Amino acid sequence: MKKNYFSYLLVLLVFILGTVVSCTKEGPAGPAGKDGTDGIDGTNGTDGTATCIECHDANQTLGIKQFQWESSMHAAGTALARSSISSCAGCHSQQGFIQTDGNNPLTEDEWKGVDDPIVINCYACHPIHETYTHEDVVALLFPDQPNWAVTHDKEVDMDLGKGNTCAHCHQSRKRTPVVDMNDLTIMYTDISTHYGPHYSSQANLMGAFGAYEFEGSTAYPDFNGHLGAENGCVSCHMGFTTASGSGGHNMHIDAGSDLEKACAQCHSEGAGAEDKYNEYYPVYFATIDHDGEHPTLNTTSYYTLLGDLLTEHGVYTKVVDSVDGYPEAVHYNINGGLEINGTLLAALFNHRYLYQDHSHGMHNPSYSKALLKNSLEAVEALN
Ligand code: HEC
Ligand code: HEC
Ligand code: HEC
Ligand code: HEC
Ligand code: HEC
Ligand code: HEC
Repeated sequence: MKKNYFSYLLVLLVFILGTVVSCTKEGPAGPAGKDGTDGIDGTNGTDGTATCIECHDANQTLGIKQFQWESSMHAAGTALARSSISSCAGCHSQQGFIQTDGNNPLTEDEWKGVDDPIVINCYACHPIHETYTHEDVVALLFPDQPNWAVTHDKEVDMDLGKGNTCAHCHQSRKRTPVVDMNDLTIMYTDISTHYGPHYSSQANLMGAFGAYEFEGSTAYPDFNGHLGAENGCVSCHMGFTTASGSGGHNMHIDAGSDLEKACAQCHSEGAGAEDKYNEYYPVYFATIDHDGEHPTLNTTSYYTLLGDLLTEHGVYTKVVDSVDGYPEAVHYNINGGLEINGTLLAALFNHRYLYQDHSHGMHNPSYSKALLKNSLEAVEALN
């Protein structure tokens, strides 16, 4: 409609101009020019729009993905609000991501700024309208392993296949002070109340790097069974869809209802994975138990034990949200003005690393166990 309206305007404009020109006084006409050479006959080529329907088709190839994406956090979350600064834009807006050229994070110099920032959309992950064929959605932008911002001196070579695109953003950010693991008695001050790897430690946990590995009674595993997923993040988060909207281009996994589908590739038809999760979660990560008549605080998971011990050491303030007197959510908030030793700071970091990953250990179950148990032992040894 817009286009039609515009072309009417154009015709009108040409008409008015023509009238104006014809009203001005003309001089005598010059001699006629030479005839031009004949043009070449056209061949019967392909219809210029033929490839468009490889995507813009009646099968709703795009419509379905758009529908799933619209309710995803990429489209509907609040992350865009953080996209006006160079150090945040590379992961929090589509334009910022493209500007990184695959090398997050953006430096102050690289950041060109944008007037109309937009959320992480189709154009952030796919080279849309580059070849104008279906290849543009099969392809992904920045398909190679990213630069890893935080490794804590580990050699990292982790190829997540199609998940490499995700890992450009879903990886830890640099954080100071960095703990010197060779001398844990060093004292640290000026610790931000936002200390930790940022909410994006997912790829680091998958690859078991970027945390502080205390020595302890639990060995750090030398492999992560979940790295066996061919396309990493994509295999679990996009490999299924549900009528309630999770999976696919929504990318959310609901641990209450999706595990049977999301994990079916490996754990015996998936049913095994749900059981495994339900055994693992209360022992390692739960802060609240939901198995009785009313919710109760879980005081025994390793995540809770470490959080509570850090609270005793003055590192955290523990806050419990309640509804009708029953616990609904638990928060461990970092206290301001901390002055703490290396053991407490590294344990704090590890606790945040596992919290901010948001998978309750599912990105690397065995490594998460070892990290929690060994960090807890190290803080216990301070007493
Ligand atoms: C690889 C699949 C694909 C092919 C092939 C394709 N498009 Fe698109 N097109 C898209 C996607 C994805 C969008 C963005 C949809 C969105 O923003 O939700 C889009 C959007 C559009 C829009 C809306 C304006 C915009 O940029 O958001 C127009 C117009 C359009 N395409 C025209 C075409 C034409 C004409 C062709 C063929 C010459 C073509 N497309 C080929 C995937 C494709
Ligand atoms: C350009 C950076 C970027 C890329 C690329 C990216 N993400 Fe995200 N992702 C984000 C940000 C930022 C958010 C948070 C959105 C919010 O909360 O507003 C997010 C949110 C999510 C969430 C929802 C988290 C929640 O709290 O519910 C999932 C799941 C997710 N991403 C998975 C993926 C997967 C899988 C890929 C690859 C196919 C991917 N992301 C690629 C930046 C990115
Ligand atoms: C390396 C990529 C990356 C950079 C750089 C980055 N973020 Fe994020 N951020 C993410 C991802 C990924 C998520 C979402 C993860 C999830 O939901 O589990 C996120 C989530 C958040 C959230 C929680 C969701 C929300 O929007 O409420 C806040 C707040 C946030 N980021 C602030 C910032 C700020 C401020 C900066 C810059 C100082 C920044 N981020 C830089 C990747 C990044
Ligand atoms: C955060 C990254 C991300 C965003 C945003 C995204 N995609 Fe995708 N898309 C992927 C990944 C990864 C795959 C491969 C999924 C797989 O192999 O299971 C994919 C696959 C597809 C496919 C199937 C391609 C094939 O193999 O046939 C289509 C179609 C598609 N996307 C369209 C879209 C459209 C339309 C949008 C915007 C509404 C969009 N995508 C947004 C990451 C993304
Ligand atoms: C690529 C194959 C693969 C996929 C996909 C996969 N798993 Fe696993 N999982 C394994 C392997 C192998 C192990 C054992 C080795 C290890 O712990 O790393 C394992 C271990 C686990 C454990 C740890 C058990 C314990 O206490 O030691 C849990 C819990 C688990 N998986 C749950 C899940 C859930 C939930 C999903 C889906 C979101 C899933 N897995 C998807 C292969 C897979
Ligand atoms: C083995 C399957 C598996 C793989 C591989 C995997 N995830 Fe997850 N992820 C999960 C499960 C299961 C949850 C939810 C756990 C829960 O809610 O307790 C989750 C949670 C998340 C969350 C928190 C928000 C949400 O929607 O639940 C984000 C963000 C996320 N994953 C991103 C990623 C990224 C990025 C990668 C690749 C670096 C990745 N995941 C790889 C299984 C996987």
